[in-house]
Amino acid sequence: MLKWWQKAIVYQVYPKSFQDTTGTGTGDIKGITSRLDYLKALGVGAVWLCPVYPSSNVDNGYDISDYTGINPAFGTMKDFDELIAEADKRGIKIVMDLVFNHTSDRHEWFLQSKQDRTNPKADWYIWRDAKPDGSVPTNWRGIFGGSAWEWCRERGQYYLHTFAKEQPDLNWENPDVRRALYDAANFWLDKGVGGFRIDAITYIKKPSEFLDGKPDGKEGTINIHLMTANTPGILDFLREFRREVFDGHDIFTVGEANGVSADELPDWVGANGVFNMLFEFSHVDLPLNESEIWCYPVKWTLRDLKHALSSSQHATARNGWCPVFFENHDQPRSVNHFFPEGADTQKAAKVLAAVLLTLRGTPFIYQGQELGMSNVSWPDINTYDDISTKGQYAFALNEGFSPEEAMKFVHYFSRDNARTPMQWDNSPNAGFSTARSWLPVNENYITVNARTEEQNPDSVLSWYRRLAEFRRNHEELTAGDYREIMTDSEEVFAFERMLDGRRIITAANFSLESAMLPEEFAEYDLLLSSESDAEGLVMRPLEARIMLQYIKTISSIKESLS
Ligand code: GLC
Repeated sequence: MLKWWQKAIVYQVYPKSFQDTTGTGTGDIKGITSRLDYLKALGVGAVWLCPVYPSSNVDNGYDISDYTGINPAFGTMKDFDELIAEADKRGIKIVMDLVFNHTSDRHEWFLQSKQDRTNPKADWYIWRDAKPDGSVPTNWRGIFGGSAWEWCRERGQYYLHTFAKEQPDLNWENPDVRRALYDAANFWLDKGVGGFRIDAITYIKKPSEFLDGKPDGKEGTINIHLMTANTPGILDFLREFRREVFDGHDIFTVGEANGVSADELPDWVGANGVFNMLFEFSHVDLPLNESEIWCYPVKWTLRDLKHALSSSQHATARNGWCPVFFENHDQPRSVNHFFPEGADTQKAAKVLAAVLLTLRGTPFIYQGQELGMSNVSWPDINTYDDISTKGQYAFALNEGFSPEEAMKFVHYFSRDNARTPMQWDNSPNAGFSTARSWLPVNENYITVNARTEEQNPDSVLSWYRRLAEFRRNHEELTAGDYREIMTDSEEVFAFERMLDGRRIITAANFSLESAMLPEEFAEYDLLLSSESDAEGLVMRPLEARIMLQYIKTISSIKESLS
């Protein structure tokens, strides 16, 4: 029997950019509530809310200063309770983002911890003495650039931060820290949330010895990810987390697990794992080297993408479940990410939608993906807000790239590509706000927007709605097995989902050329195509098809005779 979250479609909301109701240019919780009917019409069963807690917004909410409060910029706890209640009326659950690797440097725990070496919270963060020559304890580089260590005058020590210096890492070895975090998560469970997305979870366990690593750039530093991600012993913490918070609740949990490979998935998900699902990044990380440095991009082909997707499908096939996703608030827009340059973004969006909604697993749609929203490419680095974009830009300049070259990397990879305001209609500020938005609106909002697309049966949004309905009505897509076909094709990603002698086949042409389907496809029934006049065995460039093959089993023959 499948659980509710295995049948649901999850929609990710980036609150700052979703809907402003107060004229501040920044989205808010009431804005999300006001759009629940839109989400219901899309077939959404759960909404993952990026952090809405009090925060200094150095990393847009991922630097939390109170785990059980609501950021006044987003509204009040009453607004939040109302969101849960209104969502519930529409059969939609609210999923919270737990950011437990680090807090904000303004969190009361850190303010106390940094005061001296003897206060009750002295050991709640990761403090180390300088090297004998006064330099940083190790050559680790934070994920947003610069040293992962920051000097604290009061204590005369450095503290560790995997991300920005305003995001000090918590010391999970301390049982009081873990207890406080579990209490915070239980607070939200008591409010009736439907689950958790657990942020940056692979970094919570640090190695027993802190050693320098081999530099991965001219700067002499190494990405901390390569030194601390997925350190042995981490699963002991997480098993405790599961026992103390998740067990016994009808919720789902999805961990953000950068650094866990497909073959390690069985330890993390399923009957013996700790989460219901894990975001595994091998497919979205294809253009990145292992240090995730933007200025040294890696070439990849469709076959690499197919391999990455099939690996996580196989790893969770027998014992486990996976989230299926192509976008989130940290990724470029998928229409610019997975297709050759010059691809028509609306067609590309439809191709990915067909894959997203027919693979085995829970599909995650990131806001605006259902409209085919695309990247921006602002000429000036100062227009960008994202802290990692600024770090990567500075790193590229340090490596000797020119500002023009560094901007090319920004255009391709910046997280702000996904963070521009949601495009609701073609009125000023795209219907997102009555004021100038905190981040510029993508200029294509005049045509790419929810209202215009709702009125057009051929739009990306209409295609998403059809696919969502199709998925609801075809159990093969939720409960069926997965098998990749046409594995050698350089243009087409094709796979089948099989259940009780019925086989649904998805074929998605990612290329800008026509592609030939194998002979046997001629016998399949065409159920859906992203091109209205699709027929025969030749697929158009950027076309997606969904077909049905009815396999004659003894029981189906008996059924047809009776
Ligand atoms: C995760 C979040 C990202 C954030 C980081 C630090 O990767 O998805 O947005 O910057 O963790 O919390």
